[in-house]
Amino acid sequence: MKLILRRGDVGSTLVPRPMTTETSWTPSTWRARPAAQQPDWPDDGALDDVLKRLGTRPPLVFAGEVRQLTSTLAEVAAGRAFVLQAGDCAESFEAFTADAIRDKLKVILQMAVVLTYGAGVPVVKMGRIAGQFAKPRSSATEVVEGVVLPAYRGDMVNDISADPAARVADPGRLQRAYDQSAATMNLLRAFTKGGFADLNQVHTWNQEFVASSAEGQRYERIAAGIERALRFMAACGIDLAQEASLHQVDFWTSHEALILGYEEALTRQDSLTGGWYDCSAHFVWIGDRTRQRDGAHLEFFRGINNPIGVKLGPSVSPDEAAALCEHLNPRRVPGRLTLITRLGASRIEELLPPLIRAVRDAGHPVVWVCDPMHGNTFVSAGGRKTRHLDHVLAEIGSFFRVHRAEGTWPGGVHVELTGDDVTECLGGAEEVLDSQLDLRYLTACDPRLNGRQSLDLAYRVAELLRGS
Ligand code: TRP
Ligand code: MN
Repeated sequence: MKLILRRGDVGSTLVPRPMTTETSWTPSTWRARPAAQQPDWPDDGALDDVLKRLGTRPPLVFAGEVRQLTSTLAEVAAGRAFVLQAGDCAESFEAFTADAIRDKLKVILQMAVVLTYGAGVPVVKMGRIAGQFAKPRSSATEVVEGVVLPAYRGDMVNDISADPAARVADPGRLQRAYDQSAATMNLLRAFTKGGFADLNQVHTWNQEFVASSAEGQRYERIAAGIERALRFMAACGIDLAQEASLHQVDFWTSHEALILGYEEALTRQDSLTGGWYDCSAHFVWIGDRTRQRDGAHLEFFRGINNPIGVKLGPSVSPDEAAALCEHLNPRRVPGRLTLITRLGASRIEELLPPLIRAVRDAGHPVVWVCDPMHGNTFVSAGGRKTRHLDHVLAEIGSFFRVHRAEGTWPGGVHVELTGDDVTECLGGAEEVLDSQLDLRYLTACDPRLNGRQSLDLAYRVAELLRGS
């Protein structure tokens, strides 16, 4: 154990003190801590085999890219960029098609154009995608049609069907999640660099949305503004077809790093810097249910060099928030830590200001992101878990107001959405009603915004960013 000299509490004598475990971190030191929300794997031997194999598989992202994302997020921390983090609540093995990936990316790009115009700063585009396969649950069991079953924990753990055998945790699913993530990532890289993300094309999709939207009038001004900006650039002699930055985007992957064995297996040492990186995604976050002070998740996260997030629900105290920052980013590296608040529309104005002050007063340069979904879930009259777009927008509105009042930068939004025309959340310009939730309620977990509701949200946030 290394000894360091620190000024002790006995007068001003220098007292040698053993440094805490802070110095010794490896990808597996989390194993000595209590790990919340881990599956009950029936066969440790089978689990170890899979994890060993995953440990030899290629990384999904590279350390250099991850460092680039940290610098980009440092721009957000400084108020010079905005984050759009969006995607499924839970990805599924079932809905794994090229079309589904394309449609999700399409909505995110459409939102990003609107937000870029509204914010007048770059938008960091991050998907909850290519690895978002594990779900924390409030109870180890759930009752489906009168039968008590082990809880569904995401496709990388067990199967959602209401059958006790299907709910047994199967380590082969970790391998399948990795394979699907790799294929998803491959397609995303092709789409975002190969022409699909062309600004002109994305703008054309938006114009189609505006033309066909009940609230079209309202968004016409923003769409027309983008149109004029593009024409202005062309008039100035910029060849829009040739300019690489106009038809390529950087797109980053992210997920909740819940199943620590999987994350450990994909954690690799960078040959360039010697630092450790969780190469399962560019950005990983800790859920509100797994951020225990001495828990395994905090231990794992403190040692990886990725930019990371922590979800903060209504139960977090200002002191705890500051302590989390200290633990996860003691050197106060801008871009390293994103705090994703999910406080609920009715409580955010009361709960967010003390959190902001505690973190700011402790000198932590965090990125503040608003998750307006998870604090606004309720059960509909028909018994469906749902969210109302009005509540989602209300929480975002409050998020902007509070940050403006505190002098901090509202750094981004984190939403659950799909490109498909689902009926899972209520409201929107093309209003989804309570009675319609059963029509296309397809989510494996939480209710997601559909494509139109997502664009509605982007236009509203753009208006907030323009301060109107
Ligand atoms: N490359 C720029 C960016 O990522 C501009 C851009 C091109 C863009 N295609 C886009 C922005 C699609 C948003 C969506 O910001
Ligand atoms: Mn969710």
